[in-house]
Amino acid sequence: MARIELKNLRKEWVGATAVAGIDLAIENGAFVAVLGPSGCGKSTTLMMLAGIYQPTSGDITFDGARVNDVEARGRNVGIVFQSYALYPNMSVLENIMFPLRFKKVERAEAEARAREIAALVRVDGFLDRRPSQLSGGQQQRVALARALVKRPHLLLLDEPLSNLDAGLRLTMRTEIRRIQRELGVTTILVTHDQIEATTMADRVVVMHAGRVEQEGAAEDLYERPDTLFVASFVGSPPINLFDGEADGAVIKVHEASIRLADSTRGPVVLGIRPESVQVAEQGTSARVTAAEPMGREVLYTADSDFGVIRFLEAGAEPRHREGDSVHLHISPASALLFDKASGRRIDARIAA
Ligand SMILES: Nc1ncnc2c1ncn2[C@@H]1O[C@H](COP(=O)(O)OP(=O)(O)O)[C@@H](O)[C@H]1O
Ligand SMILES: [Mg+2]
Repeated sequence: MARIELKNLRKEWVGATAVAGIDLAIENGAFVAVLGPSGCGKSTTLMMLAGIYQPTSGDITFDGARVNDVEARGRNVGIVFQSYALYPNMSVLENIMFPLRFKKVERAEAEARAREIAALVRVDGFLDRRPSQLSGGQQQRVALARALVKRPHLLLLDEPLSNLDAGLRLTMRTEIRRIQRELGVTTILVTHDQIEATTMADRVVVMHAGRVEQEGAAEDLYERPDTLFVASFVGSPPINLFDGEADGAVIKVHEASIRLADSTRGPVVLGIRPESVQVAEQGTSARVTAAEPMGREVLYTADSDFGVIRFLEAGAEPRHREGDSVHLHISPASALLFDKASGRRIDARIAA
């Protein structure tokens, strides 16, 4: 286990900057998720931590010691990839023991450790089987055991659940969390799936275009996103965003105007989460254009004075239909405002 630090870490490929200077500290035993869209540099960051890629510049430290020049094998890092590639001709037990071959661990001791970790990840019932005789979820557990058998300082998980079906993903989310807690191993999970990131990790680091956009607990990212990017990437269904113009007293958005409680001026973007909009007796006029049942909630789309707005209402059955006229109440406290030019959130206050 180790405390991990990245200092102004960069990775440039010919013609592309994959990681554009990242600063990050991960406490010993923490479970951190790196969340971001495809291509934002998540895997490249992980590969530098593992010692597979050499950074272009910047430092990586484990417990304060610089490891840039320590090769992969010497870092004692366990990795699980999306394609976990177990050795097909080896039994489950041999697969789990495999990483210990390169360490000076005696066979009996290696086997004891493999059996212990197999029990922890709950694959001890089929140690003699070949990977092809296991389900996808069981194979993923074996891959996890193989990454953990070395008692790594750091566990790296790169989209480990992407190949599993929805039900299994749910189980494995909980399982990985349980195993991480039991071992207390410092863990970094890379994912493009916000639900995976927020349910599994203690802290989420949002990456965008090779940079850290914001880090924090899931609620921080959701309630106080620093940027438009974080606001639109975190939250499902996504936040409604409207271009507006503030004149120091009101914000004009399409045909609506919102009273300001301060003197903000200039082009802004108003962000309203679908769950912050309620159908009410009074409020912005809107006409429902679609109603989509989503299990326990219905997602509506409506044409409003703000423009096209999406909102959620509890209940399995739609209470409003296409063509219905409704009034929408938007709670001022939940509205977010961003400076249009910089994309950064501003603390402007909206009058109740
Ligand atoms: N080996 C490589 N050679 C050249 N470019 C690469 C290589 N690996 C990744 N990249 C580029 O670096 C960027 C970040 O990639 P990656 O770290 O894989 O993103 P993510 O894991 O977030 O999807 C992408 O633009 C990708 O095309
Ligand atoms: Mg990747």
